[in-house]
Amino acid sequence: MTAAIEVDEVSKRFGATVALDAVSFTVDVGTVLALLGPNGAGKTTLVRVLTTLLVPDSGHARVGGFDVQKDARTIRSMIGLAGQYATVDELLTGRENLELVGLLYHLDKELYRTRAQEALERMSLASAGDQQVKTYSGGMRRRLDLAASLIGQPPVLLLDEPTTGLDPRTRNDLWGFIEELVAEGTTVLLTTQYMEEAEHLANSIVVLDSGRVVAKGTADELKDRLGGNVLEVRVNKRADLDRAASLIANFGNGPSRTNPDLNQVLLPIRDGASVLIAAGRALQDHGVALDDLGIRRPSLDDVFLAITGHTTDTHAVEAGNTEISR
Ligand SMILES: Nc1ncnc2c1ncn2[C@@H]1O[C@H](COP(=O)(O)OP(=O)(O)OP(=O)(O)O)[C@@H](O)[C@H]1O
Ligand SMILES: [Mg+2]
Repeated sequence: MTAAIEVDEVSKRFGATVALDAVSFTVDVGTVLALLGPNGAGKTTLVRVLTTLLVPDSGHARVGGFDVQKDARTIRSMIGLAGQYATVDELLTGRENLELVGLLYHLDKELYRTRAQEALERMSLASAGDQQVKTYSGGMRRRLDLAASLIGQPPVLLLDEPTTGLDPRTRNDLWGFIEELVAEGTTVLLTTQYMEEAEHLANSIVVLDSGRVVAKGTADELKDRLGGNVLEVRVNKRADLDRAASLIANFGNGPSRTNPDLNQVLLPIRDGASVLIAAGRALQDHGVALDDLGIRRPSLDDVFLAITGHTTDTHAVEAGNTEISR
């Protein structure tokens, strides 16, 4: 058996909301699959199905060859879960939280004490292990949550947005921990809204949007699917940004994206050099001063935008960091 997780035509509705619509994919043993999608895509719903907490309306899901509905008990003993919202007890210390998890796994006292200490060390929490969790920062809580998922030494880890809200350094640390576990043979399914995270950690990526799988493959395969390149324009003055976007719009094969913080416009294009020259000329003819003009390979963000018509980071859209225009 090479598939650690098999999801076969799984559907789930909540009233009129279709949270999962015939979702299928597999995750090979010892690999990382990233389930990528914006808010409401269905990521947590799928994690809940795989952890046996939610029964699908139709379809089948198996973990380690066991059916989530028929063999729920077995599956619970072989998975570790770190949920989207850290589920640690505020009043207990970090160590007590971990030992409690060991108790729930029916481990011997000596064993769960050893594993709690190991997990604290692994997550760089050893010095804070005997403080109450209410004194922990958000990043420390996330690390403790991940530590808790390791106590049972499960072969399959399900991590729901493990790094959301973490600062870049803490996020990098967590990526490192996940990579170590995978190197030791653990299978990981993680959900994320960050392209970068999927690109960094995942062997394969499933893109969900409104409950449907809209793309599947490695990061490179998804980029190849988009084809072509991305034209990147940096204007000298913020005031020129929208004008620059409309001046180059005709050269694109999809909608452009402006990033006001960086004075930047990104436009998917089919060609390379000829578009670069033509776009540069058009901007110059209209007196738009440039800081930079270039071509690069598409990022997964570009791919997601091309597939779904919106970016993954809905928060950024709301905050006005990323605007989509035609
Ligand atoms: N228990 C529930 N009752 C009703 N609707 C639900 C329930 N759980 C999820 N939904 C709906 O199902 C859809 C998918 O939700 P889900 O939580 O799986 O998305 P998500 O991809 O995890 O989003 P986020 O990135 O915000 O965590 C959403 O429209 C959500 O409102
Ligand atoms: Mg979620």
